[in-house]
Amino acid sequence: MQAKTPSQSFTTVTDMVLPSETNPLNNLFGGELLARMDRAASIAARRHSRRIVVTASVNNVGFNRMVPLGSVVTIEAQVTRAFKTSMEVYMDVWVEDRESGERTKANEAIYSFVAVDDTGRPIAVAPISPESELEKQRYDAALRRKQLSLVLAGKMKAKDATELKALFAE
Ligand SMILES: CC(C)(COP(=O)(O)OP(=O)(O)OC[C@H]1O[C@@H](n2cnc3c(N)ncnc32)[C@H](O)[C@@H]1OP(=O)(O)O)[C@@H](O)C(=O)NCCC(=O)NCCS
Repeated sequence: MQAKTPSQSFTTVTDMVLPSETNPLNNLFGGELLARMDRAASIAARRHSRRIVVTASVNNVGFNRMVPLGSVVTIEAQVTRAFKTSMEVYMDVWVEDRESGERTKANEAIYSFVAVDDTGRPIAVAPISPESELEKQRYDAALRRKQLSLVLAGKMKAKDATELKALFAE
């Protein structure tokens, strides 16, 4: 299968925060942001694989900044690395200042998706070839994150997580 670049899966989703999507402090409810990110990431994974994709894991989400009612929120998602049937999708979440239009980073998140056939069985995806420096950094770190996710899910023994061992040996 021919390799694709991360930019071929680049997805941007912009939406605003409505009253039904907030917590008692009138800030965006965490679960609502998780769902928005899941949608954006699944579109990116679909664009890379051109297959049905399912969320395998939510590996890292940091809620670093409150997102007030009425905010315009943009989620940028792209596939950072493709393995055999799974893909890592990295997301940056931006909030736009109402007056200046300036964007501030609110969150980052990393989800894993698996491409499946019509019966839900995992199916191979195209490899990925990173281009920019940031894409290369994220690509290199993705294997470590995948191994961590598999260890935490009880699907890989810690002793087999070569990338994690290398990290602690440094
Ligand atoms: C995700 C799913 C397809 C994996 O199936 P599986 O039987 O574990 O299949 P495999 O062991 O062959 O794994 C398939 C790929 O998923 C990866 N994977 C599985 N669990 C993972 C996890 N927790 N984190 C990261 N990757 C994971 C495997 O490493 C493998 O990747 P690779 O082929 O690129 O090396 C299956 O568990 C599933 O359908 N889950 C439900 C998905 C869903 O409904 N999501 C929405 C939740 S509401």
